Amino acid sequence: MCGIFGYVGSSEKDNPVTICIEGLKNLEYRGYDSAGIAGLINGKILAHKTVGRIQALEDCVSKENLKLQVAIAHTRWATHGKPTKINAHPHFDSEKKIALVHNGIIENFKKIKDRLVKEGVNFESDTDTEVIVHLLSHYYESDMLEALQRTLEDLEGSLAIAIVHKDYPNQIFAAARENPLAIGFHKGTCEAYLSSDPNALRNAELDILYLHNNEIAVIKPDEIDIFNIEGKKQVKETEKLELEEGSATKDGYEHFMLKEIFQQPATIQKAMENRISDAFGTAHFEDLTFSTHELQSVNRILILACGTSLHAGYVAASLLENIARIPTEVEIASEFRYANPIISENTLVIAISQSGETADTIAAVREVKAKGAKIIGVCNVKHSTLTREADSTLFLKAGPEISVCSTKAFTSQLTLLSLFTLFMARLRHLSKEDGQDFVKELRKLPMLVSDILEQSSRIEELGKKYSGFEHFFFLGRRYMYPTSLEAALKLKEISYVNATGYPAGELKHGPIALINENLATIAMCGNKQTFQKLLSNIEEVKARNGPILCFANEEHTQLEEIADDVFYLPEVMDTLACIPYSIAAQLFSYYIAKERGTDIDKPRNLAKSVTVE
Ligand code: F6R
Repeated sequence: MCGIFGYVGSSEKDNPVTICIEGLKNLEYRGYDSAGIAGLINGKILAHKTVGRIQALEDCVSKENLKLQVAIAHTRWATHGKPTKINAHPHFDSEKKIALVHNGIIENFKKIKDRLVKEGVNFESDTDTEVIVHLLSHYYESDMLEALQRTLEDLEGSLAIAIVHKDYPNQIFAAARENPLAIGFHKGTCEAYLSSDPNALRNAELDILYLHNNEIAVIKPDEIDIFNIEGKKQVKETEKLELEEGSATKDGYEHFMLKEIFQQPATIQKAMENRISDAFGTAHFEDLTFSTHELQSVNRILILACGTSLHAGYVAASLLENIARIPTEVEIASEFRYANPIISENTLVIAISQSGETADTIAAVREVKAKGAKIIGVCNVKHSTLTREADSTLFLKAGPEISVCSTKAFTSQLTLLSLFTLFMARLRHLSKEDGQDFVKELRKLPMLVSDILEQSSRIEELGKKYSGFEHFFFLGRRYMYPTSLEAALKLKEISYVNATGYPAGELKHGPIALINENLATIAMCGNKQTFQKLLSNIEEVKARNGPILCFANEEHTQLEEIADDVFYLPEVMDTLACIPYSIAAQLFSYYIAKERGTDIDKPRNLAKSVTVE
């Protein structure tokens, strides 16, 4: 994962240190276990590294009054080597002439390290990254471009790197393979920026270009030169940034997660805005570039995603099969990318990713693209890698999701994919009247979600009551099964307790052995079709002394005779129930985490965007 930021300018008044620290803050979602900065001043390389958040680095550089003429900076999510100061980036060659930051994984680092150690090179860190800087030094005679080409040839794996070299006082070198790296420059003001994410530049005036496939950039304030790995100069297209709306403040909420949970009536509304035709009982998407004929020809859909987005994919697959009658498979992107998939002519691929940067999802997309598939991206972040790889992108329009734990993006994904299902179904067999009924139910969602949010104090009580458990089962059937998977993921990632989502009918095939008074079962009872069956499963848990909390439709009061607690939700059709039930579960997880005193917005070991395999 990790985030890279760099700056080179020609004006004395701009301080590259402050600019890079501000840039890193915008990239902190990519990792936050340590950070560092290095650069050149008066012919010398100076650097600082700190363990922990960017704030620690900012405090350190301001205490030291660090000044640099050109700077590269990094925020880390540890892959190889613990999150210590030594393992933090930048890394240096033995003579401290070169400083380098890296995002990615060097798969053959051990082999290269052994080779370099035999040649007498001393390694300081446990990282894979350090081999890059020693290799560069090894190949460098007088030409950095050539040294970089030779280094890239030796490296296996994914990378985005930024480098400063003592012999090149006012420039940054950069290269990228598989991992994103954007360069923003302004000819008028003679300044250039480098960033893992163009949105971190927050500057609509800049011309932006992206490095790909082993491209190398030589970045000076007034000139950007791009070369391929053979050293041939490349001509690149540029674009301008469309800045994202939405504030990056908590707006009075205690955490971003809580703010984002409470934004959901508005974000669900936004996902539907200008996309519904009440008159025709269908949906339309201004951003969809496929022809009606192409969409009518689709006879199979393949959904690719990871984590929470994968759970949205599971719900969408059921919707697409049940309502649009299109055979749909969901694949975990990290598994799928190595599967040599069969992609027939009329297969449509939907890649779901809030960030649009998840490495496994992007790699899976590239794999299906190479096989000729057409791809729709479902994404929240403009200018992200997925938006550049997909043939068409449907945006969630949920505004920036800051909390690492995804909440509003999930329900926007579900809303958008429900609309897409409706659209595909209406292109096929679904009648106008049935389409209109579905639209009516969709339109009720924001109000229904507001009703649940108004009961947050009751969920808070339940959260407090269940916060002492170390083990949870979330059980559900049909649409409530992926809802359970998502609810369990929320709880484990922010509370650090063991939570498993399970299809309720499968409990008796093994996991029921775990049921006792120390394992809490949370039954997601929002599926009317299977309610009676779920009821039997809840009885089975009760018979084994398992404490039970049910999230249930308000008509199912008989649950009070079995369950220890019941939280009632308003009536909602089975196909859309995942949205309100997930929101109740988000609040439940939030209040448990709060009671347990965890770092809710930035849980340990996580990052918002998973940009390595
Ligand atoms: C969980 C969470 C992760 C992400 C996953 C995919 O709350 O946020 O599981 O859903 O890392 O991220 P995107 O959707 O950005 O591809």
